[in-house]
Amino acid sequence: MLSDTIQAALNVQINEEIHSAYIYLAMAAESDRLGLPGFTNWFKQQYSEELAHADRFFNYILERGGEVKLTAIEGPKINNETPLELFEKSLAHEQHITSCIFKLKDLSRAESDHATDNFLEWFVAEQVEEEAATRGVLDQLKLVDGNPSGLFLIDRELGGRKFDSTSDED
Ligand SMILES: [Fe+2]
Ligand SMILES: [Fe+2]
Repeated sequence: MLSDTIQAALNVQINEEIHSAYIYLAMAAESDRLGLPGFTNWFKQQYSEELAHADRFFNYILERGGEVKLTAIEGPKINNETPLELFEKSLAHEQHITSCIFKLKDLSRAESDHATDNFLEWFVAEQVEEEAATRGVLDQLKLVDGNPSGLFLIDRELGGRKFDSTSDED
């Protein structure tokens, strides 16, 4: 059984993951407005990944005999962003999610919930990957410094990313 504290914290994380998906969906629309289909593709992949993360928490709560409690999702605050700003916001957001995962891990250890502590291991590794991937694009964007030819090349590269559902399985 999950303790009430852990169950509540896991439910908050479902909301955080769907909120993340929502932010990336808004960023996909913003990229389309900017005429950058590769960026749109990249953010749509992020959107799918975040929904898969929410699903992991959902399944885990049920597996432990807990109760899923869904709450309202806050609207994304994405307005007239440049490609650089989109990735700065993405990295800041991923760092926020990493801190959420770390706090969840601290909580599960404080409560000696070894199963939840173990479940969260996957997310610790995933956040390292997500931050690195986002930082990689951000570094390239800083390098091209708004140059249209550079942006075009990055857009081509981001257009090649495909959502790998198998990477979301253990
Ligand atoms: Fe996530
Ligand atoms: Fe993420």
